[in-house]
Amino acid sequence: MTPTNSLATAPPLATPATNQDFLADVIAGLSKRARSLPCKYFYDARGSELFQKICELPEYYLTRAELQILDRYAGEMAKAVGPRISLIGLGTGAGTKTRLLLEQLQRPIAYIPVDISTEQLQRSTKLFRKIFPALEILPVCADYLEPVKLPSPSRKPGRKVVYFPGSTIGNFEPQSAGEFLRRIAKHVGIGGGLLIGVDLEKDRDVLERAYNDSAGMTAQFNLNLLARANRELGADFDLTQWRHEAVYNSAQGRIEIYLVSEIDQTVHLSGQAFDFAAGEKIITEYSYKHTLEGFTKLAATAGFEFAQMWTDDARLFGVFYFTVL
Ligand code: AVJ
Repeated sequence: MTPTNSLATAPPLATPATNQDFLADVIAGLSKRARSLPCKYFYDARGSELFQKICELPEYYLTRAELQILDRYAGEMAKAVGPRISLIGLGTGAGTKTRLLLEQLQRPIAYIPVDISTEQLQRSTKLFRKIFPALEILPVCADYLEPVKLPSPSRKPGRKVVYFPGSTIGNFEPQSAGEFLRRIAKHVGIGGGLLIGVDLEKDRDVLERAYNDSAGMTAQFNLNLLARANRELGADFDLTQWRHEAVYNSAQGRIEIYLVSEIDQTVHLSGQAFDFAAGEKIITEYSYKHTLEGFTKLAATAGFEFAQMWTDDARLFGVFYFTVL
């Protein structure tokens, strides 16, 4: 079967981060007193592979809980968002969750997946064109954290709905989360919707186990950021001298993920030297946990009105639906 619009005929409207961006961001992050590296760089080919494995770990409940919710309630979600929508997927990756939703949607007009990974975008687009031959699919390879101009479907949709699964919103600090949600609200416009997966607040033990798995997969995932800097930027991080750490900061309501220097050491990168003392940390990720009330308030500051939340048996995870008034 010949697809009506391939990635080749519908070129990416924006390009994902280049090595130049990566280099600039790594240098900037390591030059600050409180060292940091942006979590968006976790997802090179190796990192995406490791993340898939994390999603299958017994301790990492997030993906299973969200899939359970979709399995059960995708029909209700489809009813809530209504017929003839244009669905914009942000960071939908392999598309496993989106598929469950698309199967239930009533006569959707278009599906516009926006993802930073070309490989995943290509693979899921090919698969979805086969499963949903009547659906117009307009893939966009881009970093959705940056403002992106999205293509218009050939038919006019009843409403635009953004689907943002995976609790990626947890990576945003509250203020940026608010700003990001506001951009989404502006994009979907009055009457538009947002369907968003959010990890819920819970016991410290459950949270810390999810980010310190016994198989050491999360540690590998975290350390891959340094391996990637070595591979792509020619840095000389000694991976045996860094250790993964994840702790729940209950006051801030977030998991904090660090790389901790085991010894006093110097790392070199594009002619610069970065000194680390033993025990010094690089923050690589925040993963905020929200309550129903807290997240509803946050979304309200961005112009979204709460419509519904679906959750799993253990109330570990929530899929929220908001609309713009
Ligand atoms: C992709 C943001 C949902 O915060 O749980 C998993 C990424 N990092 N283990 C999360 C992640 C370490 C993840 N999100």
